Amino acid sequence: MAGSEDPTGETHELRRALGPVHLTALGIGAIIGAGIFVSTGQAAAQSAGPAVMISYIIAGIGCLLAGLCYAEFSTMIPVAGSAYSYAYASLGKFLAWVIGWDLILEYLAAASAVSVGWAGYFSGLMKNIGITIPQQFESSPIVMSADHAISFSGAYINLPACLLVLALTALLIVGIRASATFNGVMVAIKLVVVVLVIGFGFAYIKPENLTPFIPPNTGQFGHYGWSGILQASEVVFFAYIGFDSVSVAAQEARNPQRDMPIAILGSLAICTILYVLMCLVMTGLAPYKTLDVPQPVAVAVAAAGGALDWLVPIVNLGATLGLGTVVLVLLLGQSRIFYAMSRDGMLPKAFSKVHPKFRTPHVSTMIIGGSAAVLSAFLPHDLLIELVSIGTLAAFVIVCISVMVLPKPNPSAHRPFRTPFVPWVPIGGIVVCGSMMLGAPLGTWIRVVVWFLIGMVLYFAYASKHAKTPDWALKPEAK
Ligand code: ALA
Repeated sequence: MAGSEDPTGETHELRRALGPVHLTALGIGAIIGAGIFVSTGQAAAQSAGPAVMISYIIAGIGCLLAGLCYAEFSTMIPVAGSAYSYAYASLGKFLAWVIGWDLILEYLAAASAVSVGWAGYFSGLMKNIGITIPQQFESSPIVMSADHAISFSGAYINLPACLLVLALTALLIVGIRASATFNGVMVAIKLVVVVLVIGFGFAYIKPENLTPFIPPNTGQFGHYGWSGILQASEVVFFAYIGFDSVSVAAQEARNPQRDMPIAILGSLAICTILYVLMCLVMTGLAPYKTLDVPQPVAVAVAAAGGALDWLVPIVNLGATLGLGTVVLVLLLGQSRIFYAMSRDGMLPKAFSKVHPKFRTPHVSTMIIGGSAAVLSAFLPHDLLIELVSIGTLAAFVIVCISVMVLPKPNPSAHRPFRTPFVPWVPIGGIVVCGSMMLGAPLGTWIRVVVWFLIGMVLYFAYASKHAKTPDWALKPEAK
């Protein structure tokens, strides 16, 4: 979590204390989460087979290109609101609303998705200590099949996921914020688990599980073959979300022009290498079709024929701790977006109300937490992940476009960091992220279009009438 703004959206003058190593660690901490721990299994089983590692490489390249564009904005506009504020500065009210509405979906679905991922490992951990949560209360009543059809599972509610979100929402309202030390410990735990799985799992890989490396396409788009790899890249793209926290910390960087690209490149490169190795070990240990479960890393490790059984509870515990903090970060990020939109008049003023005692935006936190709790209680992980990925990809495409159009309206804006090789980097970002969006299944597109249409109604009924030009609009070159 970057400390340049508090949850109420106020910015503070910060000491420029972070060097490239700090910034890279910050990025890795925000990146590793439910993506690698949960989505890898689904993507391998349903779409890509062992070639899911190629999907990770494609998604990593898209993030890198979009990340360099993100960095330019975040160094220029140091206010809460992320891509929403960047769009407002460069593209105006309407597109700012589109991106803000898109980010609401992204953060809401992401917090819910990670909490559902967390619940899978939490249930596994409970089993390890002899407590079995009844199946009807530990999974979602709605399920999505490999060909993306929706049906009912017979379960009632995913209680652990729902309770986690409610508990974290309460913590955010009373104003808890993860300290740098706490974050550091959580990052270390996640990394240790990933490295242990790779290190110990490697020796037990069965080559027959890895062949054919690219299972032949079944005749349907997205079911194995290269279209499957593309579809899986849209799913595993989720695993990279969070690297933009490096950009948010730009205000605290000692030398943003040099260190931002190093940290963005560095954290993405390290995570890509870890992710590819994890894919190799997971699909090498267990046949890929067995990995479509809530805790695929634990299942893969358990498939090593008893030799790695000691590692299963460690994986469950590490994922439970690591994913819990990711949910906290996502809920906090969402409340910042709501705050920024409400402050600019896009959403009613009540959303930016700050609690008199706790000094937190309690109304928006409650709305977000309540909605995320409902989503995590009833929706499956894979459906939520796909919504997040397509939403974020759309935001990235808009940020890439913004970088190209920005020089015209605001030639004198102060920019501590400039995207290199414009227009090639943003064009590359648009092509790679746009292709991943095209890989998304039809059902995901329909859900996103419905969300967008609801957003349009709200825009014309409310936001367009009340929005006012933000007072943080770009200042001329100051230094
Ligand atoms: N990248 C984060 C995760 O995988 C959102 O959980």
